[in-house]
Order: sequence, then structure tokens, then C-alpha cells
Amino acid sequence: MDAYLAVVSKREVRSYADRGLAPEVLRRILEAGRLAGSSKNRQARRFVVLERVRQEAARCVFAPANVSTAALAVALVIGGRGPADFDAGRAAQNMILAAWNDGVGSCPNGIADAEELSRLLGLEDSERVSSIVSFGYPAREVDPARRTAEGWVAAANRKPFEEIVSYA
Ligand SMILES: Cc1cc2nc3c(=O)[nH]c(=O)nc-3n(C[C@H](O)[C@H](O)[C@H](O)COP(=O)(O)O)c2cc1C
Repeated sequence: MDAYLAVVSKREVRSYADRGLAPEVLRRILEAGRLAGSSKNRQARRFVVLERVRQEAARCVFAPANVSTAALAVALVIGGRGPADFDAGRAAQNMILAAWNDGVGSCPNGIADAEELSRLLGLEDSERVSSIVSFGYPAREVDPARRTAEGWVAAANRKPFEEIVSYA
């Protein structure tokens, strides 16, 4: 998929199909996150694929079903110095776009109970979960090619360009 088309056609998935991910797709998603840039290349973030603790971890986000029903859920764990949340965001968006390139949708989930989630994942005191990103095929299929990139831009539920972009 054209990279710009991938960026502008991506919307969050609210409901996932009951279909797993091929191992090579899973690997590409995680590699895309691993290769993301970070402040001073410190890479002060790591990814925990939620398996054993998935259902319990789902109860620690605001919309548990989005995590519990996904084909894959990845906790982005940050710690150490530097703009860690920004670094985690860069890694998350890389994963999200790599997944979308394979037709796999996704959704970030904010953490409602950080303390319980840290306990479940056995995090160090210096660490916390920035977000849990869920991945899976959307229940309602979306074909990015059904519109041009310009068509996706025009249809997006976003603030107007002039409100977001200014020049100084
Ligand atoms: C169940 C659910 C939980 C979400 N939680 C978060 C969150 O905690 N933090 C966040 O930045 N976005 C979160 N999002 C994503 C934003 O709501 C989303 O990016 C925004 O509404 C634009 O959606 P769209 O790209 O589908 O238009 C969540 C979305 C859903 C459906």
C-alpha cells in the first residue's frame, strides 16, 4: 500500500473479526515498533505481547472489550530518561501503520488502572505502561483502495486544516 494512503485511510477499529494473525504479520508489526526512532536512540521502551494475562490486563483499560477481543494486544512499556511517551507513540504508530499495510486494524487504549497493570506485568518501579494497542482484522471490512488518498482526507472526521496548521 502507498504509505500516504495507509496514513490517511487508517481509522481505529471498534470491533474485531474473529480471525487470528499469521506469524509473519505479527512479527512485522513488532519489528516496525522496534525499528522506530527514539530520543538519542535510547529506545527506552519495550513491548509486552499480552497472552497469559490478556483478560486481566483488559480490565485495566477504559474499554476492556477492545483489548479482550483483539487478535493481538501489545503493551508499550516505558521507563528511563527522555521523552518516553513520545518515543512510545512513535513506536505505536509504526506498528499501527505496518499492521494496516497488511490489512490489520488497530486501536490505542489508555490505561485506567496503571497500578494493577504494572503488577500484572511485573514491571520495575521505574516503568509504566504508556498504552495498550490492540490489533486485528476489522469486523467490518475496510478497503483503503475504495477511495483515493484525497478522498480519505476529505472524508476524515478531523478539525479543519486551517485550525490545526499555522505559520510563525
Ligand atoms: C475503545 C477505544 C478506546 C480508545 N482509547 C484511546 C486512548 O486511551 N487514547 C487515545 O489516544 N486514543 C484512544 N482511542 C482512539 C481515539 O478515540 C481515536 O483516535 C479518535 O477518536 C479518532 O478515531 P478515528 O481514527 O477512527 O477517526 C480509543 C478508541 C476506542 C474505540
